[in-house]
Amino acid sequence: EMKIKVGLFGSGGVGKSTIAIRFSKDIFVEDYDPTIEDEYKKENDLNNKKILFYILDTAPQEEHYDPFPRYVQYTDIFVLIYSITYKRSFEDIKYFNERIKRILDIEDKDYPKILIGNKSDLTMKREVSIKQGKELAKKLNCKFIETSAKTGENINQLFYETILLEIER
Ligand code: GTP
Ligand code: MG
Repeated sequence: EMKIKVGLFGSGGVGKSTIAIRFSKDIFVEDYDPTIEDEYKKENDLNNKKILFYILDTAPQEEHYDPFPRYVQYTDIFVLIYSITYKRSFEDIKYFNERIKRILDIEDKDYPKILIGNKSDLTMKREVSIKQGKELAKKLNCKFIETSAKTGENINQLFYETILLEIER
């Protein structure tokens, strides 16, 4: 059995909770309900091997308490998520990356991560191109996938990539 602790990071509204729920329960949640903090468990079989995912759905900082360092310490595989419909969330990825590195205390070394451009179904509202996503992933030295928690596109692929990262770790 393999256990993978996956942390979902990214700005508010990019789809972290919707991705976690789509993967663990195979449903799409239309309503927006800002997250407090949540953990989802999902068991999968891959080539007769059991894989247990622990998915940490992160929440933003509160007035008197910042849970971010704890999220980073918990996580083994980092999923950095922006929305292709919101340029600002794409720019925020650099900030998340910097903060994670600082907390892990690895300025030069790398850590296991994947870059996700979510809401790929909303093509009419696209503000970030695939090319821009690829370029950022190259800078961050990681894989890049566009996903849709609405249609389910590439959601399984995302978590499959976390298995590959866990094996490399
Ligand atoms: P916080 O908990 O506030 O940090 O936000 P979040 O990142 O968890 O976002 P959430 O999953 O709550 O999604 C925000 C809104 O976007 C919801 O209304 C979702 O239904 C919608 N949404 C999420 N993913 C997708 C997607 O792939 N496509 C479309 N069309 N809508 C999506
Ligand atoms: Mg959420």
